[in-house]
Amino acid sequence: MKLNRRKFVRNGISLGLLFSLPGSISAKSSGISDNPDNIFEIIKSRRSVRKFKSDPIPKEDLNSILEAANNAPSPRNRQDWKFLVVNWREILDQIKEECIKRSGENSREYFTDYLSAPLYIIILANTNTRNPDNDIIAGALAAENLFLAARALGYGTVFCANSIPEEVTRQALNIPENYKRLCITPVGVPSEWPACPEKKSLQEVVYYNSII
Ligand SMILES: Cc1cc2nc3c(=O)[nH]c(=O)nc-3n(C[C@H](O)[C@H](O)[C@H](O)COP(=O)(O)O)c2cc1C
Repeated sequence: MKLNRRKFVRNGISLGLLFSLPGSISAKSSGISDNPDNIFEIIKSRRSVRKFKSDPIPKEDLNSILEAANNAPSPRNRQDWKFLVVNWREILDQIKEECIKRSGENSREYFTDYLSAPLYIIILANTNTRNPDNDIIAGALAAENLFLAARALGYGTVFCANSIPEEVTRQALNIPENYKRLCITPVGVPSEWPACPEKKSLQEVVYYNSII
């Protein structure tokens, strides 16, 4: 049964209990909710995903995800970022083949999985500004907004920095030199939701009033 994920996330009702969604089998078996409906659940259940089903992303879902990214904080509200959506299979295959060429034929399966999502979003920050470091930070915040919105709608993402080298996408997509690629992220229905990797406890990372 195909359901409009956005609608029931919007309504704040977790229908995951009532219906089985495409792409939800392993989510269910791993106890991960298909449609987390509060911010803490969304944050906790976001996972880096590196293998996808081919289900297309409806335009309205893509727009919601991009809106979330575009609403991130930025220095003086400059929003000096660009979100480059790539969904032409031909270009994605070209990127895949270039990655395999650089990493060796035994990486074919890895990159075939990695490039299996229906679309990819490249987050670019303008470095030709007064304080490019801050614009880069803002781009990273936009990335997290994007990931969380995608997760709320049932899609997997990953902050891909090095796995797909920046130069590969720069050449394939003619990205101007003054735009730094912060990440390229797939957006797609996960082939399965990975388990949560072990995270440090708060005791290990939180300090009060002094770091010593
Ligand atoms: C700055 C940064 C760079 C990353 N680069 C890559 C990358 O090149 N390839 C990749 O597959 N994942 C990359 N990741 C994803 C991390 O591996 C992932 O977030 C981490 O293992 C924790 O898993 P989780 O996101 O499911 O919590 C990157 C994450 C960050 C924040």
